[in-house]
Amino acid sequence: MYKFVINGGKKLSGEVKVSGAKNSVLCLMPAAILANGNYKFSNTPNLIDSISMSNLLSSMGIEFKFEENSIEIQNNGLKTFEAPYEFVKKMRASIYVLGPLVSRYGYAKVSLPGGCAWGPRPVNLHIEGIEKLGAKVEIEQGYIIAKADRLKGAKIEFNVSSVGATANILMAAVLAKGTTTIENAALEPEVISLAYFLQKMGAKISSIGTKTLEIEGVDELNSANENVIPDRIEAGTLLTAGAITKGNIKISRCNPNHLESIISKLRSVGFGITIGDDFVSLLSPNSIEPVDIETEIYPGFPTDMQAQWMSLMSIANGSSTIRENIYFDRFNHVPELIRLGANIDVDKNIAVVKGVEKLTGAKVMSTDLRASASLVLAGLVAEGTTEVLRIYHLDRGYEKIENKLKKLGADIERVYIDEF
Ligand code: UD1
Repeated sequence: MYKFVINGGKKLSGEVKVSGAKNSVLCLMPAAILANGNYKFSNTPNLIDSISMSNLLSSMGIEFKFEENSIEIQNNGLKTFEAPYEFVKKMRASIYVLGPLVSRYGYAKVSLPGGCAWGPRPVNLHIEGIEKLGAKVEIEQGYIIAKADRLKGAKIEFNVSSVGATANILMAAVLAKGTTTIENAALEPEVISLAYFLQKMGAKISSIGTKTLEIEGVDELNSANENVIPDRIEAGTLLTAGAITKGNIKISRCNPNHLESIISKLRSVGFGITIGDDFVSLLSPNSIEPVDIETEIYPGFPTDMQAQWMSLMSIANGSSTIRENIYFDRFNHVPELIRLGANIDVDKNIAVVKGVEKLTGAKVMSTDLRASASLVLAGLVAEGTTEVLRIYHLDRGYEKIENKLKKLGADIERVYIDEF
């Protein structure tokens, strides 16, 4: 078990590269179920979650070769069509195998993911979508069991915009017979990237990048290669790390278009932002002004950046509110930030953050991926030493974040400990 030991107070400066997007590679990998052949994904992040996804797909018979920042995949046909609880409980994105399995093989047995650290995360839209495409679905002993002869195109309208359900149903519809329309499709860049990748595999998808996706099912797909898009949440986290230390940093190899909501809020706080084709530079003001946010679907402010923003606002020059609209209970980081001296009140899905003059180092506990990131950011500015425990949460979604922060001048070490 590892922890981070951070000595706060260093202003970050310099340049750091953004890695490939976790949430993109997690939906690209299961797309390889859809066709036999060889695949190569480049610019892949080196993460526990991508290893978890490869373990799940390997258990079905797909072969993987990992290089530093690429993944080669060989699919010679699957031997099982099952995602056992042992895999799904580690990573909810395992549900992504449902659509491709039923679509190509007419059968899938996938464990229900259950809740997560910040409350219920239903998968009803995934199940209803696959049923609309003609699959017969039963829930037995915690498993979704879906069967179909061949899926048939249908009109599917999501009442909530869902990244996961859009990706899953897209992967199901590409091999269905006839036309599928997905209304209220998610617009997150990771979903759009998946749609373009499926096109490379031979899928017929039109209106990519709009809320209505049209898919004309084909009989067969081919394997393909992809360059994974940059991780907009890692980019936002690194920018906020620069911001919270009142540093001047440049993040490169990112897509600034994907960061508009975060950049616009940082500008409102007072940060000077310069944007290039694939970089963003941040110049700090003297004072961090309080700025309200509410989380929204893309292109709104991402829920995956809410915790990190809260850390920044905890040392702002006044009060701000944070309204969480995607996951109402996503506030596990609040008690830990309070242990570092933050002044935060939560009422239902709204947090009021009263900026304090300084945070003070303490031992804090990671509870989930983005909560851990918010604690690391707070530790960078807290006076004295902060220890962030249970950083395995962080390793799920950030590639060696301590090395990137060190490169920017942070005093942060990964230390092995025996106990939790
Ligand atoms: C994905 C991201 C996660 C991010 C989230 C929201 C991956 C692997 N994970 O998760 O990092 O926080 O998008 O941007 O890409 N919902 C339903 N029924 C469903 C599915 C979702 O009601 O069947 C609701 C959820 O409770 C939530 C909203 O839809 O309120 C959006 O969730 P969704 O976009 O599906 O999140 P994930 O795909 O699980």
